[in-house]
Amino acid sequence: MSRPGPRRGAAFFAPLAVASGLGFFGCESAISRIDPASPRFAKLAPEEIAALRRGRADYIAKCSGCHGLYRPSHGGPDYWEKWVEAMAQRSRLTWFERERITGYLVALSGH
Ligand code: HEC
Repeated sequence: MSRPGPRRGAAFFAPLAVASGLGFFGCESAISRIDPASPRFAKLAPEEIAALRRGRADYIAKCSGCHGLYRPSHGGPDYWEKWVEAMAQRSRLTWFERERITGYLVALSGH
């Protein structure tokens, strides 16, 4: 019988702990605001800007209960669509909240 010793366990888990620490923020000020002057949003209508802002607020309100908030740049569009869908039920999102949160995260995602 082979039992993994404590040193082997620590060596295995340490890189995981470091990796999951990256891009993980408990503090909402690290979560990008929507700046309408940014070239990225310059062409958007005021109601689209408002929806993105609402999406940010929903993201902070609905997604910070169990784990820290991930920066939008943590993943690309596919990553966010997949994860918001996976978390929608746990967060009891309405359809509108889910659309806004996905819209916000995708708009500021890492590409
Ligand atoms: C009820 C608790 C809970 C809520 C609320 C919640 N999450 Fe999660 N989340 C988890 C757990 C637990 C995991 C670990 C993976 C799993 O169990 O699927 C996770 C994992 C994740 C991951 C994977 C990170 C990675 O790359 O490994 C992302 C991204 C994420 N959540 C985003 C969100 C978003 C966005 C919301 C809001 C819509 C949200 N979470 C709300 C519990 C929650």
